[in-house]
Amino acid sequence: MRKKIVAGNWKMNLDAAESQKLIEELKSQSLAANVTVAVAPPFVHLSSAVSQTSDSSIGVIAQNMHQAKSGAFTGEVSSSMLKSIGVHTVLLGHSERRAYFHETDALLAEKVDAALADGLQLIFCFGEELAERKSNTHFDVVTHQLTEGLFHLTAAQWENIVLAYEPVWAIGTGETASPAQAQEMHAHIRSVLAAKYDAHLAQGVSVLYGGSVKPANAQELFSQADVDGGLIGGASLNAADFAAIVNAF
Ligand code: 13P
Repeated sequence: MRKKIVAGNWKMNLDAAESQKLIEELKSQSLAANVTVAVAPPFVHLSSAVSQTSDSSIGVIAQNMHQAKSGAFTGEVSSSMLKSIGVHTVLLGHSERRAYFHETDALLAEKVDAALADGLQLIFCFGEELAERKSNTHFDVVTHQLTEGLFHLTAAQWENIVLAYEPVWAIGTGETASPAQAQEMHAHIRSVLAAKYDAHLAQGVSVLYGGSVKPANAQELFSQADVDGGLIGGASLNAADFAAIVNAF
């Protein structure tokens, strides 16, 4: 079922005290009740974020996970570890994971399977780079990322998937996709889903936009027919800005 969602991806920011402070500040903001709100702190803060948000409607998301259940994978975290501390959603496929940690489409398909097999929900991220948009291959790139990462799934498995289109050229650059560019790509995403599955599934999946979303541009982006919310980086580190984005719906 399609929902309005705003999630904050904190990336590798904030120490323990800062994380706790930001969550307290968020809890004191009035957040629109019709929007699903969540934050994705670094792994080390997840446990305290879960307990801090237990008396609120704010969800807690992990930024990544390993595809194996357990084993000799120094430095990694598994889906069952996340579940054991009360985290039931994970971001997968973020462009920073793809670019800096060499996560391929094939690896991401494995991670997707591992997360779903363990009952996690996931926010699957994808998006083209600047050169790909300039060479007008952005629709093909996105189709490919969806096909390789997710199109082996059954329709029923899509119940647990949210998509996040994040054009790489708009992440952390201050340059946002225009509302028309976001809408055009989100409509493309639904048409690819409809062709692979059916119109019902395509209309039911929540598709978020990410890339320099700010209080000043959120309302116009979120008013686009196929944009169901946002995945917010920099602006999610400020409670007032994040709340303003949530309330932009
Ligand atoms: P910014 O909002 O900082 O551009 O980051 C977007 C993002 O990567 C969210 O996952």
